[in-house]
Amino acid sequence: MDKEEKPMSYGEAIKKAANVLQRFPLVEVRGIPLMNLIAENWSSVWDFCPDPSDLLISTYPKAGTTWTQEIVDLLLNNGDAEICRRAPTSERIPFLEIFSPPPIPSGLELIKKMKPPRFIKTHLPIQLVPEGFWEKKCKVIYVARNAKDNLVSYYHFDRMNQTQPEPGPWEEYIQKFIKGKLAWGSWYDHVKGYWREREKRNILYLFYEDMKEDPRREIVRIMQYLDLSLPDDIIDKIVELTSFNVMKDNPMANYTFIPKIVFDQSISAFMRKGEVGDWTNYFTPAQSQMFDEDYTRQMADVDIPFRTSI
Ligand code: A3P
Repeated sequence: MDKEEKPMSYGEAIKKAANVLQRFPLVEVRGIPLMNLIAENWSSVWDFCPDPSDLLISTYPKAGTTWTQEIVDLLLNNGDAEICRRAPTSERIPFLEIFSPPPIPSGLELIKKMKPPRFIKTHLPIQLVPEGFWEKKCKVIYVARNAKDNLVSYYHFDRMNQTQPEPGPWEEYIQKFIKGKLAWGSWYDHVKGYWREREKRNILYLFYEDMKEDPRREIVRIMQYLDLSLPDDIIDKIVELTSFNVMKDNPMANYTFIPKIVFDQSISAFMRKGEVGDWTNYFTPAQSQMFDEDYTRQMADVDIPFRTSI
C-alpha cells in the first residue's frame, strides 16, 4: 500500500511560497483598502455561502481576534486543551477573505474542507460580509478595542508582518489610521457599522477592555450567546487557558507557526503586551490631543462606550 501523503503544514506552505511573498499593496474593494490578493479574488469571497450553524468572529485587525478565537474553540470543545491544540489558530478557525500565493491555502479552501459548524474569522467591515451570513442568520461575535490601543497594536503588527504594507514612521501611521488608509479601512466606520446593526442582526458586540477587566464575565456572555452551559470549573479552566501569559506560550495560538519570513517576531511579538492603556507609551500629549479632537468629530454620530483605560 502506498504511504499516505501527509498534508503540508501552514508553515511549510509559507516557506514554499517564500520567493513570492512581499509586502502586498492595498487595492480598494468598494472603497475599502484590502491586500491586492483579496481584491483580485473578491468575487469568490463575496459569493461564499455559509451554513446556518457557522459562527463568524469579526474584528478590526488587532482588536483581540486570536483571543476570542481561542475562547470560542475552548467553549465549543468543553475546555479540552488538547483538542484545542490540534492545529494552529489559522487552521482551526480559517480567515474568510485571506488569499496568499500558492501553495498557501486560502481561507475559503480551508473552510470548504471543514464540516459545519465551522468558526470563521473575518476583518471585513459589515457591508463586505457575504450576504449569506445574514440570510442564514449565522451567529456573529464582534470584538472592538479602543482606537488608541488598537492603533498601537496595529503599528507593531505592521512592523513585524512582512506581508502588510510598510507602516512608515509613527507620526504618519497615526494619520493613515485616522484617514482609514490601513488594510481593512477605517476603524471608525468598522466599529460603527457593526454597532448599528448589533440588535437587528443578533451580533454579540464585545469590548477588548471588558474582556481584560473581567474575562470570566465575558467568557460567560460568549457561552450563553452560543447556547452552551458549561460547569464552573470548566469555565475557570477556560479563563486560565485564554489568559495572555498562557496563550503567549501556546505554540498553536501565538503565531510562532508562521515562519519568520512572514511574521518576524524578533521585531515585535504577536502576543506583544495584551494590555489596556499601552497607547500612553506611544502618543505624545500633542498627538493625543489631535487624535482626540478628530475622534470626537468622527464618532459624533454614535455613542459607543469605549474605554482607553480600565
Ligand atoms: P497587543 O499588540 O496590544 O499586545 P488580534 O488577535 O486581533 O490580531 O489582536 C492581537 C492583540 O491582542 C495583541 O495586542 C495581542 O497581544 C492581544 N492578545 C492576544 N491574546 C490575548 C489575551 N489572551 N489576552 C489579552 N490580549 C491578547
